[in-house]
Amino acid sequence: MASISEARKQVRNLRTQIERHNYLYHVRDDPEITDSAYDRLMRELRDLEQEFPSLVTPDSPTQRVGAHPLESFGEVIHSVPMLSLGNAFTDEEVQQFDRRLRDLLKSEKELDYFAEPKLDGLAVSLRYEKGQLVRAATRGDGAKGEDVTQNVRTIKAVPLRLIGKAVPEVLEARGEVFITHDGFANLNRTAIESGDKQFVNPRNAAAGSLRQLDPKITAARPLDINFYGAGELVSADPPRKHSELMQKFKDWGLRINPEGIEIRGVSGLINYYTLIMKKRPSLAYDIDGVVYKVNDYEQQRELGFVARAPRWAIAHKFPAQEETTTIRAVEFQVGRTGALTPVARLEPVFVGGVTVSNATLHNMDEIEKKDIRIGDEVIVRRAGDVIPEVVKANTSARMSRKTRKIKLPASCPVCKSKIERLEGEAVSRCTGGLKCSAQLKEAIKHFASRRALDIKGLGEKLVEQLVDKKIVKSSVELFALEFEDLQQLDRMGEKSAKNVVAEIKASANTAWPRVLYALGIREVGEVSAENLVQHFSSFGKLTGASIDELQEIDDVGPNSAGYIKEFFKKKENKEIISTLESHIKSDWPVKKDSHGALLGKSFAITGTLAGMTREQAKEKIQQAGGKVTGSVSSKTDFLLAGEAVGSKLAKAEKLGVTVINEKDLEKLIKG
Ligand code: IVH
Repeated sequence: MASISEARKQVRNLRTQIERHNYLYHVRDDPEITDSAYDRLMRELRDLEQEFPSLVTPDSPTQRVGAHPLESFGEVIHSVPMLSLGNAFTDEEVQQFDRRLRDLLKSEKELDYFAEPKLDGLAVSLRYEKGQLVRAATRGDGAKGEDVTQNVRTIKAVPLRLIGKAVPEVLEARGEVFITHDGFANLNRTAIESGDKQFVNPRNAAAGSLRQLDPKITAARPLDINFYGAGELVSADPPRKHSELMQKFKDWGLRINPEGIEIRGVSGLINYYTLIMKKRPSLAYDIDGVVYKVNDYEQQRELGFVARAPRWAIAHKFPAQEETTTIRAVEFQVGRTGALTPVARLEPVFVGGVTVSNATLHNMDEIEKKDIRIGDEVIVRRAGDVIPEVVKANTSARMSRKTRKIKLPASCPVCKSKIERLEGEAVSRCTGGLKCSAQLKEAIKHFASRRALDIKGLGEKLVEQLVDKKIVKSSVELFALEFEDLQQLDRMGEKSAKNVVAEIKASANTAWPRVLYALGIREVGEVSAENLVQHFSSFGKLTGASIDELQEIDDVGPNSAGYIKEFFKKKENKEIISTLESHIKSDWPVKKDSHGALLGKSFAITGTLAGMTREQAKEKIQQAGGKVTGSVSSKTDFLLAGEAVGSKLAKAEKLGVTVINEKDLEKLIKG
């Protein structure tokens, strides 16, 4: 048992370590240790605090989640009001904004701005006194908000204590609480599993999570935060520019948006807008525009405010990603596996930067759950390049409308075959197989797609003609196509017809895993295709394999084994397979090293490796006879882990899979 003074020292030491790792993880986005090592530090601290309760302080990382739910939220008067921003929707409006400011400042020179994304979340103000977080409040009406201190403390990216040098006397850090796309997806998955209502979008989820009276609920929600400004700031060394404040925030452990930059002149602002708009689909969170701020605080003071917004800043908004419109009709589309997808035909609406007239309704379960009907007023969402979807029906508008329920058709709308819905599945499927022209078209498109046989020039319109005119009745019949077959088609010149024929010929010279993937067997993705080819010594061995043999392979469970077996058993597929065998020019790969040190061993790889790319590591392992899978399972022998590792490592540790580094791998290969 440690003495209290030793314990005090150790507690301090642990807190400093934990705070530093928190900072590296959340602010620098560059963790030094694994999640489990972090958890060990936390556990050690918790144990010590339990042994010596007098050492527990409110700013200890163990004290994030308060014990008691609140009755209601208290009121907080903001010492400096939380303002809103003026909006610009066009480049001209941004130019007018810049012109106005330059006139007011009588500036001949271009102005210096700071530009950053406008996060779509909730504004909060966090008050730090002598570096300690003392209060957190929502924006409310701008003058007073709600006291959400208990809840904000549970957000892991919020430092309970500022770090670094020259911590200010008082700082009201203003920022946006939000939920990432991943966090949102997880949240809704959990909601589905426990039969709770799903959230409509990350913003609503963030708002709902922050306004929980029980901080334990908030703590379980994936809330995040970014800081973009200051209210009250009392400091010996106050910043003179917004960019300086942002640098100080970072040094104090407050996370800022990494996309924020200084920009001189209005044309730079407009370029920035375009750049961030392009990045938008790949960002981990929702943004609804960018914000431009005059960088220099002296100039900000000179410009001052109008009504409730500063003159020195403006939000340049992106086109809305959600809009309201009406469902005119619903049709059912048939996919590659026969799955019927209900598609809403809409009153055209401008959303996400384009005019949308069709949106997916996903499946009948979703329709029922959301109670969506033909004739309804609905919210349509189009984010980035994703397919537009109907999010929600406005049921209160139904009174004044004629609506009717959406019904699943009795037979396939394309081929009239029977429709079946398997136990436990959300989708209904057309049973027509390749006799259904819709399924055939999709099968051919998949066969020719980039990651499969990569047949260039075989686009959607061409596939449709080939199927509708009954020139091609299965994917492999593509190989029999001749120049004359193509030339007679619409919009087919002599040159393109020749090209397509040549492309198809050339595509026969491809690797077998691609061929297997191209067949479009259910649940056989690129990784399983690769594993199947690795495992069997010939195509014949694979097509004749039993369910048990198939299941010996990593990533192949009972379901996929069943689908594979079923596929190769079908008469129509047998023909396809023999045609395919006669056309594919490449040899079935022989095992690289049947005596390799890693023979029979299964590996997964995660994180960034120091001395090689993951692809190189994979090759190394395969050359020594080992296998590499996409995920960690109980069949995995080793997890090769690099820097910045995540869920795979946690899973490996849970399953007792040996975790190795690159040096260990070299040793294993050398035997
Ligand atoms: S600055 C006085 N910067 O937008 C200027 N606001 O319409 C205050 N927001 O309530 C705002 N990202 O919730 C600023 N990078 C950013 C922002 C941002 C999101 C939100 C904020 C504010 C609203 C203003």
